[in-house]
Amino acid sequence: MRHLLSTRDLLRDDAIGLLDIAEDMSEVQNREVKKLPTLRGKTVVNLFFEDSTRTRTSFEVAAKRLSADVINFSAKGSSVSKGESLKDTAQTLAAMGADGVVIRHSASGAPQVLAQSGWIDAGVVNAGDGTHEHPTQALLDAFTMRRRIHGDAARGRDLDGVSVMIVGDVLHSRVARSNLWLLETLGAHVTFVAPATLVPVGASTWPADIRYDLDAALAEVQPDVMMMLRIQQERMNAAFFPTTREYSRQWGLDDERLLALRPDSIVMHPGPMNRGLEISSRAADSAQSTVIEQVANGVSIRMAVLYSLLSGDREARS
Ligand code: CP
Repeated sequence: MRHLLSTRDLLRDDAIGLLDIAEDMSEVQNREVKKLPTLRGKTVVNLFFEDSTRTRTSFEVAAKRLSADVINFSAKGSSVSKGESLKDTAQTLAAMGADGVVIRHSASGAPQVLAQSGWIDAGVVNAGDGTHEHPTQALLDAFTMRRRIHGDAARGRDLDGVSVMIVGDVLHSRVARSNLWLLETLGAHVTFVAPATLVPVGASTWPADIRYDLDAALAEVQPDVMMMLRIQQERMNAAFFPTTREYSRQWGLDDERLLALRPDSIVMHPGPMNRGLEISSRAADSAQSTVIEQVANGVSIRMAVLYSLLSGDREARS
């Protein structure tokens, strides 16, 4: 694998291979000495043009646990504010010897441009681009589901027959899109539930059911996994948004809906959470919630991705 840009590109065996490598990485993290020498001498640049807590820090931890050097770049406080372009910024950082570039950008497609333009000679990882994709989030979500569902027998397994309900702001969610493609590849069935104003045009062609009434969908489907999406108010035109009160009443995972879930179903959220809007504190902090587990699993997944992209020689990765 040369780059990781989209989960749509991942074949089933490649996806399962990454999840299995993440299992190995997770074992490393349970050791007293959490570091591997695998990427000694390599440099990873975290190129973040949008804010992040989880993704940026977990890529940094992952790279360091593989003994790579890490350069953290944030657009805020950089020469981007003076008008420097993506090309010039990337080439400047690549000139310092980047082997891998992890990029988050508000423009959908920015990681593809970086990977395919020939501006830099480094493996590119998409850490979230606009409303397009967030592949490592989907991989860590699949890893978390696989662990919860298959336990110690997770290695080599897919998610065949698993029912995943993804609820909320599908329109703006790169997490929803990356999850859809990966979950389909792994054999799970996805049901999206959202207000009509937060469903993208074209979603009817996706390999998923689209529902608008959460209570009716819950009663009918009783999913194995409830994934709540963040309401992305920063990307929203107020005219399209139900009021926050209306939203939490009709589409939020409140205490009553939490009780209506099967006791063995799991509650996921990619973070950051709007507590009291898309998810209640009781649901977020319940025994069914995997929110903190997802963060921990994110380090294992990002170690697996960096390992797959950057270990070995360039020819072998092409
Ligand atoms: N889930 C996620 O992408 O979180 P951050 O924006 O904090 O990286």
